[in-house]
Amino acid sequence: MKVLFLTGNKNKVVEANQILSNLGYEVEQFLVDGLTPEFIEPQSSSIADVSEFKIQQALELISETESSNNALLVEDSGLFIESLNDFPGVYSSYISKTIGNEGILNLLVDKSNRNAEFRAYSILYKNGKYFRALGISSGKISTQIKGSNGFGFDPIFIPESGDGRTFGEMTDHEKSSKSHRGESLRILYDELSHPSK
Ligand code: IMP
Repeated sequence: MKVLFLTGNKNKVVEANQILSNLGYEVEQFLVDGLTPEFIEPQSSSIADVSEFKIQQALELISETESSNNALLVEDSGLFIESLNDFPGVYSSYISKTIGNEGILNLLVDKSNRNAEFRAYSILYKNGKYFRALGISSGKISTQIKGSNGFGFDPIFIPESGDGRTFGEMTDHEKSSKSHRGESLRILYDELSHPSK
């Protein structure tokens, strides 16, 4: 079965494919006329609310296409830094593009608490049913930018369950085994493979 993933981020599509292909799902980016459809991100402090909004927009968009019997996937994620009262959170994408990793390290220069969490909230819609899953990866913000793999804040995030390397220093596979997105997709995988679903 094909799963159309409404996202502008190809890294997310690759990670979803790695996990859901084991169930026979083929995850593809949801494109209209070859382009990522424009969608409006609501002002909300919750990634769950943003995801709910995204799935409704995806359903509206798909109803206008010939792919309306495919499953749909959306996800919203962000980096939540404890000593910054969970900033950048739902604003992660904007902050990553503006002040970037260096800007985040500057904000933390005087802070001894470098605890942070990546969170991802995914919703998969299939045959009239919604499957929802929150994944969390706890860790710390590094003191230096390290590694060039992945995207966004990967080079400054050291997962608790790792060996001290940042996500940016890990292969896709290593990162996925410890990441918020990997966790939320594995929960979806379990829900979808449950015989009663
Ligand atoms: P959105 O979910 O597409 O709105 O974007 C979330 C933003 O959070 C991304 O643009 C990144 O800046 C950041 N982010 C979310 N997940 C990750 C990740 O796995 N690695 C690095 N940055 C991430």
